Amino acid sequence: MRAIALDKPSGKPTLRTDVPEPAIQAPDELRIRVLEVGICGTDRAIVRGEGGVPPSGSDYLVLGHEMLGQVVETGSEASSDYKAGDLVVCTVRRPCRLPECPTCAHGESDLCYTGKYSERGIVGAHGYMTSRIVESTDFAVKLPPELRPYGVLIEPTTVVEKAILESVLIQNRLDWVRNLTDDQEANRDWRFVKRALVAGAGPIGIMAAFVLLLHGVETHVSDIRPRDGYKGRLVESIGATYWNVMETPVEDIPSSTGSIDLIVEATGVAPVAWQLLSALGVNGVLVFTGVPGDRGGELELEGGHLMRQMVLWNQVVLGSVNANRSYFLQAVKDLSEMGRRWPQQLASVITAHVPIENYETALTSQPADEVKAVFDIPEN
Ligand code: BGC
Repeated sequence: MRAIALDKPSGKPTLRTDVPEPAIQAPDELRIRVLEVGICGTDRAIVRGEGGVPPSGSDYLVLGHEMLGQVVETGSEASSDYKAGDLVVCTVRRPCRLPECPTCAHGESDLCYTGKYSERGIVGAHGYMTSRIVESTDFAVKLPPELRPYGVLIEPTTVVEKAILESVLIQNRLDWVRNLTDDQEANRDWRFVKRALVAGAGPIGIMAAFVLLLHGVETHVSDIRPRDGYKGRLVESIGATYWNVMETPVEDIPSSTGSIDLIVEATGVAPVAWQLLSALGVNGVLVFTGVPGDRGGELELEGGHLMRQMVLWNQVVLGSVNANRSYFLQAVKDLSEMGRRWPQQLASVITAHVPIENYETALTSQPADEVKAVFDIPEN
């Protein structure tokens, strides 16, 4: 089979032709034909030499973790919920399975304590940029057929579902929103999020805006691109307000909007991310989702002022990574609703369908107006 992979000895992306056809090995597994795989900042970072660990014994790593596929074969004991032809998305992270890790044992590998997890296409496990894969039903989530045009957006949506729902969960500290009963979204109380700012209008930022608007939150999106550009027009067409930070610095936004309860950072640029504290309101939560490199993020902060503000205003800053199965289920639900409310806009989040032969350009450069580019994966 063909596969887009990182060749570890040379550090270069390649289109391999020798990847073995996978076969079902355990009764609960599915054989899945991969239809599309999204190209993510993490894939491009791996290709730049930042991260990317092949499975042990392999000198290459098949890339890609944002997939949409179709079941071709089910194992003898796979749940009867799955049948050939079903659309599915597979999760990214696999648990460490170490006895000292209660979160992995509990289906929350996104909160793994040991750091010894693997992630398909990123660390220790091959990814999805290939024609067929095999996966346990534990890590596959079924999609309704109407999600075919946007199903590849599920994985980035899960990342924002987790970041936003964790923020909402943290606000359980506020007595007046304390009616939480379990970890399901339906029971999380959104009353504290009257107004939110999403920083960065890439795929994560735009999907965050969709999720917030779906919950009736007054949503603002900031980016360095002009307001009448592709991203500005897209977010305004779903009802968010777009701010070009080249014209209005982020700290000036609240004087026009009023106090901001939640800021979702989706820039991946550390100095920009910390600067967002200057726009956060009383009892507010700032959640980071970007994963910058270790270097290049040096900045000077008015430490005294910001610490005083955080303490006197009871503010929270948290980081959020990955997403467990419950967020995939939530994303399926939310994406279905977004597809009903904003079908055209949701489709225009996918700005390019790229043939796998163009892997090198697609993984090493990014057009200015790209939101989400996806590889169309051929059957052979
Ligand atoms: C992926 C996450 C992953 C993270 C860190 C992101 O691009 O969407 O699933 O946990 O990278 O590797």
